Amino acid sequence: MAGTAMDTWLASRAEVRIRRGLERTAEARPGLLDLASNDYLGLAADPRVIDAATAALLRHGAGARGSRVVCGTTEAHQDLENQLCLLAGQEAALVFSSGYTANLGVLTALGGPGTLVIHDAHVHASLLDGIRLSRSSTLEVAHHDVAAVAAALASRTQPRAVVVVESIYSVLGDAADLAAMAGLCARFDALLLVDEAHGIGVAGEGRGAVHAAGLAGVPHVSVTATLSKALGSQGGAVLGSALLREHLVNTARTFIFDTALAPAAAAAAARAAMIVRQEPGLALRVLANAAILAGRCGVPLAPGAVQSIPVGSASRAAGLAARLRSQGVAVGCFRPPSVPDGVSRLRLTARANLTAAELEAAAGTVAAALGLGLQGGQA
Ligand SMILES: Cc1ncc(COP(=O)(O)O)c(C=O)c1O
Repeated sequence: MAGTAMDTWLASRAEVRIRRGLERTAEARPGLLDLASNDYLGLAADPRVIDAATAALLRHGAGARGSRVVCGTTEAHQDLENQLCLLAGQEAALVFSSGYTANLGVLTALGGPGTLVIHDAHVHASLLDGIRLSRSSTLEVAHHDVAAVAAALASRTQPRAVVVVESIYSVLGDAADLAAMAGLCARFDALLLVDEAHGIGVAGEGRGAVHAAGLAGVPHVSVTATLSKALGSQGGAVLGSALLREHLVNTARTFIFDTALAPAAAAAAARAAMIVRQEPGLALRVLANAAILAGRCGVPLAPGAVQSIPVGSASRAAGLAARLRSQGVAVGCFRPPSVPDGVSRLRLTARANLTAAELEAAAGTVAAALGLGLQGGQA
């Protein structure tokens, strides 16, 4: 029997993906040595975090039961927002159900007619989608191009402008020049929106790159964060002024028309944020492990947990990742559309809770797959 027109199209798309080495799967892969996850501090399985989640689960139930503006806000959400403010040094925080919805929410609430949004070419899909949905005038600048941002701000005709960067870029692992970007935003009366998904918990002894740069609480700098990476839980947040928070509560569609984050996830993230603040050594351990990983894999050290190894074609990246999987090591495999054509990469993440033996075994396996010798040079 002939399939529907949609089935025919789906099958043809699948065939193209397989031919180009772009096929993705979503399978459980237990038992691998993990150099792929974003649980940078190992807090997802920390007993203190699990205890906090369990207590909230028993107290509030499995789900939040409604939007934050109806009946979904619990003490767990309020406690989490306080803990995030303490950690990042911000006046106010608003928790969303994910980092993705936080980015969509803040950009659609700030953008629109009268706002120019300037963004780095490498910002995350959630930021790009938020920018598109906001229907703002938009300008993409080359990665780290501070001069292009300055030129765009200097010649803008819109009354408001937002500059969007990531503190530590999710795929390349490199860092934005926050001081330069914030300086421009102050000079041209624009808002710098920094996605700290990979900065919170890792940079600035865990308090984030914005805090480390002395920009926490500065009026023209706001932050978005995810609770699903170094904080080991689930959810996202926007941090900045109380005025911004109040605007988002009233206008951010992904806040108003979305069921609140599950209270257990909120309580887990709140406990994790407290641990990060009280134990700065955790973040330092990530950086120490990252240095070992980068050295063994022959790549320049990136400033956070993410170490990125360019390997060329999508097929080579997929082949290397599959080979490593078969040898017991999980690595990230980034291919188009996550990266441009021809620069597919393996993405390795250093975690604070990797033992020296695990780190050595994992890095050695990756180095061997890349054809590197013991010291990280070509064999
Ligand atoms: C830079 C960046 N922003 C936002 C997100 C989305 O966060 P979440 O997974 O909490 O939706 C991610 C996650 O992949 C990310 O890397």
